[in-house]
Amino acid sequence: MSEPAFLRFPDNFIWGIATSAYQIEGAWNEDGRGLSIWDAFCHTPGKIHEGETGDVAVDHYHRWAEDVRLIADLGPKAYRFSTAWPRILPEGAGAVNPAGLDFYDRLVDALLTHGITPYVTLYHWDLPQTLQDRGGWANRDTAQHFAEYARVVCERLGDRVTHWITHNEPAVAAVAGHFTGEHAPGLQDPFAALKAAHHLLLSHGLAVEALRASARRPLRIGITLNLYPVHPASDSEADRQAAVRFDGNLNRMFLDPILRGRYPDDMLAQLGPLFPQIPAGDLTRIATPLDFLGVNYYSRAVVRHDPNFPIVEASGIHPEGNEYSGMWEIYPPGMYELLTRIWNEYKPSLDILVTENGICVPDGLDFDGRVRDDRRVRYLRDHIAQVHRAIADGVPVQGYFVWTLMDNFEWAHGYGMRFGLAYVDFKTLARTLKDSGRWYAQVIRENGVRRAESGE
Ligand code: GCO
Repeated sequence: MSEPAFLRFPDNFIWGIATSAYQIEGAWNEDGRGLSIWDAFCHTPGKIHEGETGDVAVDHYHRWAEDVRLIADLGPKAYRFSTAWPRILPEGAGAVNPAGLDFYDRLVDALLTHGITPYVTLYHWDLPQTLQDRGGWANRDTAQHFAEYARVVCERLGDRVTHWITHNEPAVAAVAGHFTGEHAPGLQDPFAALKAAHHLLLSHGLAVEALRASARRPLRIGITLNLYPVHPASDSEADRQAAVRFDGNLNRMFLDPILRGRYPDDMLAQLGPLFPQIPAGDLTRIATPLDFLGVNYYSRAVVRHDPNFPIVEASGIHPEGNEYSGMWEIYPPGMYELLTRIWNEYKPSLDILVTENGICVPDGLDFDGRVRDDRRVRYLRDHIAQVHRAIADGVPVQGYFVWTLMDNFEWAHGYGMRFGLAYVDFKTLARTLKDSGRWYAQVIRENGVRRAESGE
């Protein structure tokens, strides 16, 4: 049998790895760090799997040098991490905590020493609790506080950090945090959810302005969105319309303001009086020019009409006969569908980066200390192949970041879902590189992957 085709990527393609502060750092109350909404949420009984918290997480705050060596051994050109707002501004605004900035200062210098480009995400869901006490993202003032936080971080790191992501998945922060209540701050209020969505987007625009004003070097700035190809569960008109509504609520409510400077007309009509008043000028600021769009892709959504589901009247289903992970369907073609859709429908005058892609697998150490996570290798290989397919079709995808470096705190799932290229013993916190980590290091070295053997 001939060697499967080798899918080579462009010479300057950016291979990366992504993490987030609350999921890995721990040290929740050390060195002046303030309380975040996720500390409060985790300390509320019944919110997190088995009452687990990010108090310790995987102790990256103390093990950061070891983790940078682990990243360097894998060889990525870029490492995406987030800064914890409450570690830098414990009250959300006002006094800066020097120890917080010092931590990220050391981390950035260590990455640069290894020739790794830092991609800094300013917000990965860990809002300071003091701001939540004043309404959080449902309060317009939080948008200004976020811009000030962006300025403070850029003042300290902006001489060395050139790649910035304002927000990670504002849709999740708004919907899971304010509508379903599955995430911090755990609200179930559609009015708050829509105000939060708008203020998150406004804060993005204000932060871009603040970063550009603080810049001492040319910066590349983007935002990361979780996006999904949305398929109707059947070709009935009811399901097709449900898919349009679902797509509007989850994808276009964020893509349109950022890339077109307006909310989708059908969403304004559908949400009607629920929609907050939008002051003149907001959408212009939200649509401030960017350098790249970060796309987090994990799976598609298959949607049926569901009159019992509030407002959207659409709910996801899980088609029989497909492969699933612990959290969602495995659907590699969705990566291609999503990337080509964004390019063809929005023709963004900016680059596209896949800022997260990964799979949770119930990994364990084998008798010889190895983690033979073949499913993760297959998932990553098949999705990277779809990125290659999109590039071949003209989509300017500049990079791909694996979620994630090491097993960590998976939000409401606690430590129950392992996504890492490295296995973490949550008792000893020892890190062990999995087979997928060795495989990804080879992908980076060879700048490409072998297409699956037929039938594999
Ligand atoms: C996300 C979050 C990550 C998750 C990952 C797996 O993008 O949803 O950024 O924090 O851990 O997606 O669910």
